Amino acid sequence: MFDIHSHFLPKLDDGSKSVEESVTMLKESYRQGVTDIAATPHFYPSVHNPKQWFVARDHSVRRLIPYLTEDMPDIWLGAEVHYYDGIYRSEEILDFRIEDTELLLLEMPETKWTSRMQDIILKLNDRKGIKVMLAHIERYFRFQDTDTWNYLRENGILMQVSAEYFIRLMSRRKAINMFKNGEIDMIGSDCHNMESRPPNFGTAVSIIEKHLGRGGVRTLHCREKRALYGPKK
Ligand SMILES: [Fe+2]
Repeated sequence: MFDIHSHFLPKLDDGSKSVEESVTMLKESYRQGVTDIAATPHFYPSVHNPKQWFVARDHSVRRLIPYLTEDMPDIWLGAEVHYYDGIYRSEEILDFRIEDTELLLLEMPETKWTSRMQDIILKLNDRKGIKVMLAHIERYFRFQDTDTWNYLRENGILMQVSAEYFIRLMSRRKAINMFKNGEIDMIGSDCHNMESRPPNFGTAVSIIEKHLGRGGVRTLHCREKRALYGPKK
């Protein structure tokens, strides 16, 4: 199972505060069945300088490497990039993709997206070597109408939902229905620590299995592979 969204790298963003916490998060993820995990620290173009950001990410990874063991998922370096208007013509945006894939995890503002913003997302996705995946889409539902989601999905934008959306009783039915309808491409724990936002990917998978059986879990596997390695939709 591939957790596509997490903040376990130590002392980098608002995620793990120490190497010890990172190690505990990784071991807990693996215990829950996560074999691969994308490290997706926040990149805010309004505050971060890309060069300095990559140096900081490398520094954080180097801190962690001596403590990596076999009972942890494989780590794929990436980023959670916040939207900005010029993103579709940025040269350096390719460097923010999830390692060895074309996936770019894009965090959108929690506002109603204008048609211009939607078109910028599509222009970015049209670029060679980039497949846009929107991060934690459940956060944006209340701001967008159905037409927006259909427009983006029909034009090939990939959708990531948080594990939490399957776990919370209030949203579980909607999460399962969306999954059944093919509206979710990947799940992310978006774990930040071991307390308030812990690794919870395995719990979401067990809920999928409970509602949809082993076939549901196999579907998730297939969707993960297609999103990671398949052609653009
Ligand atoms: Fe995140």
